[in-house]
Amino acid sequence: MTHRILILGGTTEARRLAGKLAARADLAITLSLAGRTENPVAQGVPTRVGGFGGARGLAAFLRETRIELLVDATHPYAAQISANAAAAADEAGVPIVALRRPGWEPAEGDRWTLVDTVSSAVTALGPVSRRVFLALGRQEVAAFEAAPQHHYLIRSVDPVEPRLAVPDATYLLARGPFREADERALLREHHIDVVVSKNSGGEATYGKIAAARALGVEVVMIRRPTLPDVASAETVEALAAMVGHFLGPAAERGV
Ligand SMILES: NC(=O)c1ccc[n+]([C@@H]2O[C@H](COP(=O)([O-])OP(=O)(O)OC[C@H]3O[C@@H](n4cnc5c(N)ncnc54)[C@H](OP(=O)(O)O)[C@@H]3O)[C@@H](O)[C@H]2O)c1
Repeated sequence: MTHRILILGGTTEARRLAGKLAARADLAITLSLAGRTENPVAQGVPTRVGGFGGARGLAAFLRETRIELLVDATHPYAAQISANAAAAADEAGVPIVALRRPGWEPAEGDRWTLVDTVSSAVTALGPVSRRVFLALGRQEVAAFEAAPQHHYLIRSVDPVEPRLAVPDATYLLARGPFREADERALLREHHIDVVVSKNSGGEATYGKIAAARALGVEVVMIRRPTLPDVASAETVEALAAMVGHFLGPAAERGV
Protein backbone atom coordinates (compact mmCIF):
# COMPACT_ATOMS: atom_id res chain seq x y z
CA MET A 1 0.00 0.00 0.00
CA THR A 2 1.38 3.42 -0.90
CA HIS A 3 0.94 6.31 1.47
CA ARG A 4 0.33 9.76 0.07
CA ILE A 5 2.44 12.58 1.48
CA LEU A 6 2.21 16.28 0.63
CA ILE A 7 5.35 18.32 1.27
CA LEU A 8 4.95 22.10 1.39
CA GLY A 9 8.29 23.28 0.06
CA GLY A 10 10.17 26.17 -1.45
CA THR A 11 13.43 25.41 0.37
CA THR A 12 16.51 23.33 -0.36
CA GLU A 13 15.66 21.02 2.53
CA ALA A 14 12.15 20.38 1.18
CA ARG A 15 13.65 19.31 -2.14
CA ARG A 16 16.16 17.04 -0.39
CA LEU A 17 13.45 15.53 1.80
CA ALA A 18 11.18 14.94 -1.20
CA GLY A 19 13.97 13.18 -3.06
CA LYS A 20 14.78 11.02 -0.07
CA LEU A 21 11.17 9.98 0.56
CA ALA A 22 10.40 9.50 -3.13
CA ALA A 23 13.03 6.75 -3.20
CA ARG A 24 10.78 4.66 -0.93
CA ALA A 25 8.37 2.44 -2.83
CA ASP A 26 5.70 2.66 -0.09
CA LEU A 27 5.38 6.45 -0.34
CA ALA A 28 3.82 8.65 -3.04
CA ILE A 29 5.22 12.16 -2.71
CA THR A 30 3.87 15.44 -4.02
CA LEU A 31 5.90 18.59 -3.52
CA SER A 32 4.06 21.92 -3.40
CA LEU A 33 5.64 25.25 -4.38
CA ALA A 34 4.13 28.71 -4.01
CA GLY A 35 5.30 29.67 -7.51
CA ARG A 36 7.28 32.75 -6.45
CA THR A 37 10.57 31.88 -8.18
CA GLU A 38 10.53 32.29 -11.94
CA ASN A 39 12.85 29.38 -12.70
CA PRO A 40 12.77 27.05 -9.72
CA VAL A 41 15.44 24.38 -9.48
CA ALA A 42 14.17 21.06 -10.89
CA GLN A 43 12.68 19.24 -7.93
CA GLY A 44 12.91 15.67 -9.23
CA VAL A 45 9.54 14.57 -7.81
CA PRO A 46 5.91 15.23 -8.81
CA THR A 47 5.34 18.92 -8.13
CA ARG A 48 2.31 21.19 -8.01
CA VAL A 49 2.59 24.98 -8.09
CA GLY A 50 0.48 27.82 -6.61
CA GLY A 51 -1.56 28.67 -3.53
CA PHE A 52 -4.43 26.52 -2.26
CA GLY A 53 -6.75 29.36 -1.27
CA GLY A 54 -6.03 29.62 2.45
CA ALA A 55 -6.37 26.99 5.16
CA ARG A 56 -9.79 25.91 3.90
CA GLY A 57 -8.49 25.39 0.39
CA LEU A 58 -5.58 23.37 1.68
CA ALA A 59 -7.90 21.26 3.87
CA ALA A 60 -10.05 20.54 0.80
CA PHE A 61 -6.94 19.60 -1.20
CA LEU A 62 -5.81 17.21 1.56
CA ARG A 63 -9.19 15.49 1.52
CA GLU A 64 -9.59 15.37 -2.27
CA THR A 65 -6.14 13.93 -2.88
CA ARG A 66 -6.37 11.59 0.14
CA ILE A 67 -3.16 12.84 1.74
CA GLU A 68 -2.15 10.82 4.80
CA LEU A 69 0.65 13.05 6.07
CA LEU A 70 1.30 16.77 5.58
CA VAL A 71 4.91 17.93 5.88
CA ASP A 72 5.54 21.65 6.37
CA ALA A 73 9.04 22.16 5.00
CA THR A 74 8.54 25.82 4.07
CA HIS A 75 10.97 28.62 4.93
CA PRO A 76 10.93 29.68 8.61
CA TYR A 77 9.73 33.20 7.56
CA ALA A 78 6.82 31.83 5.52
CA ALA A 79 4.53 32.19 8.54
CA GLN A 80 1.23 32.32 6.68
CA ILE A 81 1.52 28.98 4.92
CA SER A 82 2.75 27.32 8.14
CA ALA A 83 -0.28 28.65 10.04
CA ASN A 84 -2.55 27.50 7.19
CA ALA A 85 -0.92 24.07 7.20
CA ALA A 86 -1.53 23.55 10.93
CA ALA A 87 -5.16 24.69 10.63
CA ALA A 88 -5.83 22.63 7.50
CA ALA A 89 -4.31 19.47 8.97
CA ASP A 90 -6.53 19.92 12.00
CA GLU A 91 -9.64 20.50 9.88
CA ALA A 92 -8.97 17.54 7.57
CA GLY A 93 -7.83 15.22 10.38
CA VAL A 94 -4.45 14.65 8.72
CA PRO A 95 -1.26 14.38 10.80
CA ILE A 96 1.30 17.15 10.28
CA VAL A 97 5.02 17.33 10.92
CA ALA A 98 7.24 20.36 10.32
CA LEU A 99 10.86 20.57 9.27
CA ARG A 100 12.22 23.38 11.48
CA ARG A 101 15.80 24.21 10.80
CA PRO A 102 17.29 25.80 13.94
CA GLY A 103 18.14 29.51 13.72
CA TRP A 104 21.69 30.87 14.00
CA GLU A 105 22.98 31.87 17.42
CA PRO A 106 25.28 34.86 17.80
CA ALA A 107 28.94 33.90 18.27
CA GLU A 108 31.89 35.73 19.80
CA GLY A 109 32.66 38.79 17.69
CA ASP A 110 29.20 39.08 16.12
CA ARG A 111 27.65 42.57 16.12
CA TRP A 112 23.94 41.80 15.76
CA THR A 113 21.12 44.30 16.17
CA LEU A 114 17.91 42.28 16.63
CA VAL A 115 14.64 43.54 15.16
CA ASP A 116 11.20 41.96 14.69
CA THR A 117 10.18 43.14 11.24
CA VAL A 118 11.59 44.38 7.95
CA SER A 119 10.30 47.89 8.67
CA SER A 120 12.13 47.96 12.02
CA ALA A 121 15.26 46.86 10.13
CA VAL A 122 14.86 49.94 7.92
CA THR A 123 14.62 52.17 11.02
CA ALA A 124 17.58 50.42 12.68
CA LEU A 125 19.87 51.60 9.86
CA GLY A 126 19.57 55.11 11.31
CA PRO A 127 19.43 58.56 9.70
CA VAL A 128 23.07 58.77 8.53
CA SER A 129 23.98 57.38 5.11
CA ARG A 130 25.46 53.86 5.24
CA ARG A 131 26.51 51.15 2.79
CA VAL A 132 23.97 48.36 3.24
CA PHE A 133 23.95 44.78 1.94
CA LEU A 134 20.38 43.51 1.61
CA ALA A 135 20.33 39.74 1.34
CA LEU A 136 16.56 39.47 1.62
CA GLY A 137 13.87 38.17 -0.69
CA ARG A 138 12.86 40.56 -3.42
CA GLN A 139 9.44 40.94 -1.78
CA GLU A 140 10.99 42.55 1.30
CA VAL A 141 13.48 44.99 -0.22
CA ALA A 142 10.82 47.51 -1.30
CA ALA A 143 10.48 48.59 2.35
CA PHE A 144 13.97 50.18 2.12
CA GLU A 145 12.65 52.90 -0.19
CA ALA A 146 11.67 54.56 3.10
CA ALA A 147 15.41 55.15 3.75
CA PRO A 148 16.78 56.55 0.47
CA GLN A 149 19.83 58.12 2.18
CA HIS A 150 21.67 54.76 2.19
CA HIS A 151 23.65 53.04 -0.56
CA TYR A 152 22.30 49.57 -1.21
CA LEU A 153 23.75 46.34 -2.54
CA ILE A 154 20.79 44.05 -3.19
CA ARG A 155 21.14 40.35 -3.93
CA SER A 156 18.22 38.20 -5.00
CA VAL A 157 17.42 35.02 -6.95
CA ASP A 158 15.03 36.83 -9.31
CA PRO A 159 15.42 40.42 -10.55
CA VAL A 160 13.95 43.11 -8.29
CA GLU A 161 11.27 44.67 -10.48
CA PRO A 162 10.49 47.50 -10.28
CA ARG A 163 13.86 48.80 -9.12
CA LEU A 164 13.89 50.62 -5.77
CA ALA A 165 13.11 54.32 -5.86
CA VAL A 166 16.41 55.22 -4.19
CA PRO A 167 19.34 57.15 -5.72
CA ASP A 168 21.99 54.45 -5.24
CA ALA A 169 21.34 50.72 -5.49
CA THR A 170 23.41 47.97 -7.08
CA TYR A 171 21.70 44.70 -7.97
CA LEU A 172 23.21 41.23 -7.95
CA LEU A 173 21.50 38.07 -9.12
CA ALA A 174 22.66 34.88 -7.43
CA ARG A 175 21.37 31.69 -5.89
CA GLY A 176 23.16 30.16 -2.87
CA PRO A 177 24.97 28.43 -1.34
CA PHE A 178 27.43 31.25 -0.68
CA ARG A 179 30.92 30.61 0.72
CA GLU A 180 32.32 32.75 3.51
CA ALA A 181 35.44 33.71 1.56
CA ASP A 182 33.33 34.93 -1.38
CA GLU A 183 31.02 36.83 0.95
CA ARG A 184 33.99 38.50 2.61
CA ALA A 185 35.31 39.57 -0.79
CA LEU A 186 31.87 40.94 -1.70
CA LEU A 187 31.49 42.96 1.52
CA ARG A 188 34.99 44.40 1.05
CA GLU A 189 34.56 45.21 -2.62
CA HIS A 190 31.37 47.19 -1.92
CA HIS A 191 32.67 48.74 1.36
CA ILE A 192 29.62 47.39 3.17
CA ASP A 193 29.20 48.58 6.75
CA VAL A 194 25.91 46.85 7.61
CA VAL A 195 24.21 43.62 6.48
CA VAL A 196 20.45 43.10 6.82
CA SER A 197 19.52 39.44 7.14
CA LYS A 198 16.84 37.02 8.23
CA ASN A 199 17.85 34.36 10.73
CA SER A 200 17.44 31.61 8.16
CA GLY A 201 19.64 29.04 9.90
CA GLY A 202 21.51 26.36 7.97
CA GLU A 203 24.80 26.49 6.11
CA ALA A 204 23.83 27.75 2.65
CA THR A 205 23.48 31.44 3.59
CA TYR A 206 25.60 31.56 6.74
CA GLY A 207 28.64 32.78 4.79
CA LYS A 208 27.57 36.44 4.97
CA ILE A 209 27.13 36.22 8.75
CA ALA A 210 30.58 34.69 9.25
CA ALA A 211 32.04 37.23 6.80
CA ALA A 212 30.43 40.15 8.67
CA ARG A 213 31.90 38.81 11.94
CA ALA A 214 35.37 38.50 10.42
CA LEU A 215 35.23 42.08 9.12
CA GLY A 216 33.59 43.57 12.23
CA VAL A 217 30.51 44.55 10.20
CA GLU A 218 27.14 45.04 11.94
CA VAL A 219 24.26 42.68 11.08
CA VAL A 220 20.68 43.86 11.48
CA MET A 221 19.05 40.49 12.14
CA ILE A 222 15.30 40.14 11.63
CA ARG A 223 13.96 37.71 14.25
CA ARG A 224 11.91 34.71 13.21
CA PRO A 225 8.13 34.90 13.27
CA THR A 226 6.10 32.74 15.64
CA LEU A 227 5.17 29.42 14.05
CA PRO A 228 2.43 26.97 15.06
CA ASP A 229 3.22 24.38 17.69
CA VAL A 230 3.25 21.09 15.74
CA ALA A 231 5.46 17.99 15.80
CA SER A 232 8.79 18.83 14.22
CA ALA A 233 12.26 17.66 13.27
CA GLU A 234 15.40 19.75 12.80
CA THR A 235 16.95 17.92 9.88
CA VAL A 236 15.88 16.13 6.70
CA GLU A 237 17.28 12.87 8.05
CA ALA A 238 15.45 13.15 11.38
CA LEU A 239 12.18 13.98 9.66
CA ALA A 240 12.53 11.11 7.18
CA ALA A 241 13.08 8.75 10.11
CA MET A 242 9.85 9.98 11.78
CA VAL A 243 7.55 9.53 8.78
CA GLY A 244 6.67 5.93 9.58
CA HIS A 245 5.30 6.85 13.01
CA PHE A 246 2.63 9.04 11.41
CA LEU A 247 1.55 6.46 8.86
CA GLY A 248 0.90 3.47 11.06
CA PRO A 249 2.31 -0.06 11.28
CA ALA A 250 2.47 -0.93 7.57
CA ALA A 251 4.75 2.00 6.74
CA GLU A 252 6.92 1.57 9.83
CA ARG A 253 8.12 -1.73 8.43
CA GLY A 254 9.49 0.18 5.43
CA VAL A 255 10.25 -1.44 2.08
N1 LIG B 1 9.64 34.07 3.22
C1 LIG B 1 10.89 33.76 2.92
O1 LIG B 1 11.84 34.39 3.42
C2 LIG B 1 11.21 32.62 2.00
C3 LIG B 1 12.55 32.35 1.67
C4 LIG B 1 12.85 31.25 0.82
C5 LIG B 1 11.80 30.49 0.34
N2 LIG B 1 10.54 30.78 0.67
C6 LIG B 1 9.46 29.92 0.15
O2 LIG B 1 8.64 30.69 -0.69
C7 LIG B 1 7.27 30.32 -0.51
C8 LIG B 1 6.43 31.55 -0.27
O3 LIG B 1 6.91 32.25 0.87
P1 LIG B 1 6.06 33.40 1.54
O4 LIG B 1 6.88 34.06 2.59
O5 LIG B 1 5.38 34.22 0.49
O6 LIG B 1 4.96 32.50 2.27
P2 LIG B 1 3.69 32.92 3.13
O7 LIG B 1 3.59 34.40 3.26
O8 LIG B 1 3.71 32.11 4.37
O9 LIG B 1 2.52 32.37 2.22
C9 LIG B 1 1.68 33.21 1.44
C10 LIG B 1 0.77 32.34 0.59
O10 LIG B 1 1.52 31.71 -0.45
C11 LIG B 1 1.02 30.40 -0.70
N3 LIG B 1 2.09 29.43 -0.41
C12 LIG B 1 3.21 29.61 0.33
N4 LIG B 1 3.99 28.52 0.30
C13 LIG B 1 3.34 27.61 -0.47
C14 LIG B 1 3.65 26.29 -0.90
N5 LIG B 1 4.79 25.68 -0.53
N6 LIG B 1 2.76 25.66 -1.72
C15 LIG B 1 1.62 26.29 -2.11
N7 LIG B 1 1.28 27.54 -1.74
C16 LIG B 1 2.13 28.20 -0.93
C17 LIG B 1 -0.18 30.24 0.20
O11 LIG B 1 -1.29 30.69 -0.55
P3 LIG B 1 -2.79 30.16 -0.28
O12 LIG B 1 -3.23 30.79 1.00
O13 LIG B 1 -3.54 30.59 -1.49
O14 LIG B 1 -2.69 28.65 -0.16
C18 LIG B 1 0.14 31.19 1.34
O15 LIG B 1 -1.00 31.63 2.07
C19 LIG B 1 7.23 29.32 0.63
O16 LIG B 1 6.94 28.06 0.06
C20 LIG B 1 8.58 29.37 1.26
O17 LIG B 1 9.03 28.10 1.70
C21 LIG B 1 10.22 31.83 1.47
